[in-house]
Amino acid sequence: MSRSTQEVRVRVPAKINLLLAVGDLRPDGYHDLVTVFHAVDLFDELVVRLADRHSVRTVSPGSKAVAGVPAGARNLAGMAARRLAKEYRATGPVAIEITKQIPVAGGMAGGSADAAGALVACDRLWGTDVPRDRLAAIAAELGSDVPFALRGGTAVGTGRGNLLSPVLTRMQLHWVLGLGHEGLLTPAVFGELDRLRAAGDPPRVPGVEDMLSALASHDVHRVAAALGNDLQAAAISLQPGLRRTLQAGLQAGALGGIVSGSGPTTAFLCESAQAAADVATELAGTGTCRSVRVASGPVPGARVIG
Ligand code: C5P
Repeated sequence: MSRSTQEVRVRVPAKINLLLAVGDLRPDGYHDLVTVFHAVDLFDELVVRLADRHSVRTVSPGSKAVAGVPAGARNLAGMAARRLAKEYRATGPVAIEITKQIPVAGGMAGGSADAAGALVACDRLWGTDVPRDRLAAIAAELGSDVPFALRGGTAVGTGRGNLLSPVLTRMQLHWVLGLGHEGLLTPAVFGELDRLRAAGDPPRVPGVEDMLSALASHDVHRVAAALGNDLQAAAISLQPGLRRTLQAGLQAGALGGIVSGSGPTTAFLCESAQAAADVATELAGTGTCRSVRVASGPVPGARVIG
């Protein structure tokens, strides 16, 4: 596409952490992580246009307004656009419209996805042709999960979660997602984990090795057995109803279930696409979550689609 392009459309996926091992609190307020990220086909879509001033508007697929997403200068997608414009002296502000399917404050990196989508869209719209590794570095400044939203697939994340190495697996995983009634703020969940650890040293999940060999084996039962998340106990401590949702998903026939990232979305791994459809129907009937989605992965990260 040329510099004269007036509008760019980008699609960007949600993520699930198949394994999330959280280290101790660092002096900079972050925690060292070792995680296996996995991108699933639940997408936010961004349309970015040249405009008179910077703006961000977020709507649901039915064009209804979405609650809980910061507008204007505090929106991470808007920050991403301004950050790129500053470094590359891009001309012209942009209007960003986000059609949101990734749950807000749901532990699936929806805000990070929108930032990654804005970087890719603005780069195309402005014709800045930013090298992929420079784009990843800017992404990491915007948030720990933004580099993975750019890349997608399945990847091991270390550092704050921003240092990535791809996991080459062709294994397709089928999921049911239970969306929570209320969101959880990521810093609050990490803070709760620190509090639980100070009070009693709860068990920690193992490193990523079991998960990586389960993925290499292509055995979905082994992947289910290796699922783990150190933030799960903290998310349940803040929203005790999540325990019931997790039980309900397993009773409905899922092979394994975890809180996704910092929650409150729950992610249930199923034997097949058909099994996921069946589990979704049954889980929806239990009334333990706001709504239910099916998804599968891995899928690529932020991509221009028009
Ligand atoms: O990087 P991001 O802005 O998405 O992080 C949001 C918050 O989540 C941080 O301010 C921090 O409280 C917490 N966090 C953390 N350790 C990480 C990633 C995030 O403590 N590795």
